[in-house]
Amino acid sequence: MHILPFHAQRGCLSYLVVDPTSKEALLIDPSVEIASDLYLTALKEQGATLRYIAETHTHADHISSAIQLAELTGAKILRHKNAPSPHKDVSVAGGETLPLGEHTINILATPGHTNESISLHIDEAVFTGDALLIEGTGRTDFQLGDSEALYHSLHNTLGALPDETVVYPAHDYKGRTASTIGHEKSKNPRFLLSHEAFIETMNAHHPPTPELFEEAIAANTR
Ligand SMILES: [Fe+2]
Repeated sequence: MHILPFHAQRGCLSYLVVDPTSKEALLIDPSVEIASDLYLTALKEQGATLRYIAETHTHADHISSAIQLAELTGAKILRHKNAPSPHKDVSVAGGETLPLGEHTINILATPGHTNESISLHIDEAVFTGDALLIEGTGRTDFQLGDSEALYHSLHNTLGALPDETVVYPAHDYKGRTASTIGHEKSKNPRFLLSHEAFIETMNAHHPPTPELFEEAIAANTR
């Protein structure tokens, strides 16, 4: 499986996943800050057909290009059933599996950052959205976030994957694109907190509202 990361502004990451045998592809969290042509050129270079565009959650810090790219490619948009956007060709809740050529996309419900956050587990890779970041996690203080749910998502869902599973988050502010479950379990300061300390820390964590918040929410809930 080929995994191509795309870095946008403010540390936002999207990923193109291509099965080299069947040439079927999945695009995760596309952003308007990446020209559509860049995604389309990458698909062309791989000789791949885009089957799915998945949104790990409703983004509050960038505008998604999922709808535009779905129109251009005929790919199906995959979201959690509780995502506010009505543009859902594939509606999931966690536990579903979808084929990508010879590979299987396993949908994991990983709520906490938002109530409709999902992760996508394919072979030895997991795309975690903002549930699990490299040595961090998403915030839980808006978009129906829930610290208790995030603790459960980290420890019982993502933490249950094999240590060597490669983690691809939706953000990284230091230009990194990948970690592993084992690294995060042993080095991520939030993962190392006790249940009680995690809830207390996250409930008290109120970073500034993202710059594009209102614009992003308006565009991404269409
Ligand atoms: Fe987010």
